[in-house]
Order: sequence, then C-alpha cells, then structure tokens
Amino acid sequence: MDSPSRKLMTSLAFSLLVAVVFSASPAGADFEQVHDVCRATKDYSSCLAALNVDPRAAKATTFHSISEIALQIAAKNATASRKYVDQMIADPNTIPSWKPVLESCKANFDMAAGQFLMAIRELSTDIMTANYDVWMASDEIYACLRFMRDSKQDIPPLVAACYHVKAHVSIGDAITSRW
Ligand SMILES: *[C@@H]1O[C@H](CO)[C@@H](O)[C@H](O)[C@H]1NC(C)=O
Repeated sequence: MDSPSRKLMTSLAFSLLVAVVFSASPAGADFEQVHDVCRATKDYSSCLAALNVDPRAAKATTFHSISEIALQIAAKNATASRKYVDQMIADPNTIPSWKPVLESCKANFDMAAGQFLMAIRELSTDIMTANYDVWMASDEIYACLRFMRDSKQDIPPLVAACYHVKAHVSIGDAITSRW
C-alpha cells in the first residue's frame, strides 16, 4: 500500500475509533462539557490531556460540574508541583544554587493551589472574583519564573512545572470568563 492511502486508512481507523468512543455512552453526552471548555482555550489538545486525568471530567453533565472538576485538577496539579519541588530541595544531587529559587517557588505553588481552591468556592456566587483568583494563581507562577531569572538560574524541571500550572490557568480562565 502506498503512503497516502496508508495515511487515509489510518485516519479512517482513527475516526472510527473516535466515533466508537463518543457513542459509547447511552446519553451520548460524554466529553461534551470537556469539549465545550477546551474549545474556549487556545490549546485544545493540551486542555483535553489536562482534563482527562480525572475520569469524572468526561462524565460531567453540566458546565458547573466541569468547572469544579477542572479547578480541582488545577489545584491538585499546583500541589503536586509543590511536592515535586520539595523532593528537589531534599535531593542531595540538586545543584545548591537552585535551592533558594526552589524554596521561593514552593510558596508560589502553594499560593496558586489556594487561589484555584478559592475560585471553586466562588463559581456559583461570584464568577468575576473566581476569574480574578485564577489570574492571581497565574501571578504566582510568573513570580516564580521571575525570581528564577533574577537569581540567574535556569531550572528546566521548574520551568516545566510552571508551564503546566499556566496551562491550568488558561482552562480556569476559559471557565470563569463566561459571565
Ligand atoms: C500537571 O499537569 C500536566 C498536564 O496539564 C501534567 O503533564 C503534569 O505532569 C502535572 N504535574 C504534576 C506534578 O502532576
């Protein structure tokens, strides 16, 4: 088989798979809310990947429930990053000059997680404040990156963790900008 038709077969097989997955739920509503939220973000596929870590996301039936789940995922991600930074600090192989930056960023990740959790509570009462809090989480991440730069350090795993939290900020923004 030549390459174009092989590609065609592959994409047909993929479409079939997607069709099967999407029709698997009796109500046909699986991923509907995820799709709606991710469509409003700049990076659909990374939004999808971020939300799919929680199996409840695909099953969400209302905008409110997907919003709550997404912000819980965001808070968990920031907390997991904090724990990861803790491990780096405790690791004797970590470059000593990284430690002050890691200590500082650890607090930023904690604060960011707190902002996401606060945004959850505001979802049904004050969506504009929820949006503000999502952006406060973003500020924490920028503060971490700025401190790293100002300290003249380059810590790739830390930068990666910051970018992950920022991806969750975009999702949180997409959710809380609908008023
Ligand atoms: C945070 O979420 C991203 C996906 O958006 C994932 O790749 C990353 O591993 C998560 N970080 C932690 C520390 O769990």
